[in-house]
Amino acid sequence: MDITAAVFREVGQPLTIETLTLAEPKAGEVLVKVMASGICHSDLHVINGEWSSPTPLVLGHEGAGIVETVGAGVTSVSPGDHVVLSWMPYCRRCEYCLSGRQNLCELVERTAYQSVMLDGTTRLTSGDEDVYSYLATASFANWAVVPETAAIRIRKDAPLDKVSLVGCAVATGIGAVANTARVPMGSTVLVVGCGGVGLSVISGAVIAGASQVIAVDINESNLDRAKQIGATHTLNSRNVDVVSALPPITGKAGVDYAFEAIGLTETIEMAYGALAPGGTAIVVGQVAEGKTITIDPFVMSDREKTLTGSNYGSCRPPLDFPKFVDLYMNGRLPLDSLIERTIDISEINTAFDAMARGDTARTIIIHQH
Ligand SMILES: NC(=O)c1ccc[n+]([C@@H]2O[C@H](COP(=O)([O-])OP(=O)(O)OC[C@H]3O[C@@H](n4cnc5c(N)ncnc54)[C@H](O)[C@@H]3O)[C@@H](O)[C@H]2O)c1
Ligand SMILES: [Zn+2]
Ligand SMILES: [Zn+2]
Repeated sequence: MDITAAVFREVGQPLTIETLTLAEPKAGEVLVKVMASGICHSDLHVINGEWSSPTPLVLGHEGAGIVETVGAGVTSVSPGDHVVLSWMPYCRRCEYCLSGRQNLCELVERTAYQSVMLDGTTRLTSGDEDVYSYLATASFANWAVVPETAAIRIRKDAPLDKVSLVGCAVATGIGAVANTARVPMGSTVLVVGCGGVGLSVISGAVIAGASQVIAVDINESNLDRAKQIGATHTLNSRNVDVVSALPPITGKAGVDYAFEAIGLTETIEMAYGALAPGGTAIVVGQVAEGKTITIDPFVMSDREKTLTGSNYGSCRPPLDFPKFVDLYMNGRLPLDSLIERTIDISEINTAFDAMARGDTARTIIIHQH
């Protein structure tokens, strides 16, 4: 079938809106009518060349839609089901899948992370040319074929434009708090970066019962969103030295948990430096390829500081996504406050320009059919 997609062909160049051909779903795959897709900074890392990727490529990995048809052997979804797309299709068989850590599935590194389906091929073409599908999701298109384990069934009364955010920002942010760090009630939490991911970390910290949630950004409007969502303090790191501003707020040397949600080495070092003794820093933001950080290992042992990472919020998508949707539907997750605007796919490059300038929260593409 013909589909409309935003195609990445060259680093630093605008995406082009093209008509591509999408093949039928093979065994274990699902054809989804993609209704909405959020724009995440991970897509921008590819566009600006910070992460290498095959081309041509359809980006987008934060989508939601309706199952149209299913390939042979698919049992977990049926036509008409509403789904949030997961960018972590998994094999169900490897050591990680069997131990409930699907976000570390061995097969994904060789397939979805290479922008191909789980059998190593792609379903998208432009004339004779193969087109890759980012994370086997490719939600910057109005239709997508995805692996069965990437189509996560959710309740039908949830608005798909809003809950598309569950597919990346929410899973990553709330999961980092609830699954990776397991933040206990009453903790002090620092969140560095208040884009879609960082704002979701803040929501997760509020739901977890953090006593203080201190939000850091250089963009005042995203700090305002942080406050709306439940941050108790905001710090603009353009004007304030964050590490020295913390003791008067927390009443001790720093915070119990510090989440970095930007993807810069200096802010990862800041998050680690902001810890009180016994604290844990969680790297959620993802840096450009090849970057390294410097930390003081003496302080690490002497003050028992932990530095760890979180991939996709350590989520188990079929277990966690329906819960995130319920949190939204029950008024416990303020997704509307994350959304800057909704756009047509023809406006996608303007949205990436705004993200590159750092003056936006989430933009949602509403697909036409
Ligand atoms: N670990 C994962 O599984 C995972 C999943 C999704 C996204 N990510 C990563 O998370 C990061 C954030 O993604 P996003 O979509 O929320 O990005 P975003 O661009 O929407 O938000 C980034 C925020 O950081 C702020 N910022 C930028 N530079 C800053 C600085 N020097 N000091 C303070 N604030 C600064 C910006 O103003 C903005 O509010 C990206 O690196 C992305 O690749 C990781
Ligand atoms: Zn993302
Ligand atoms: Zn696996």
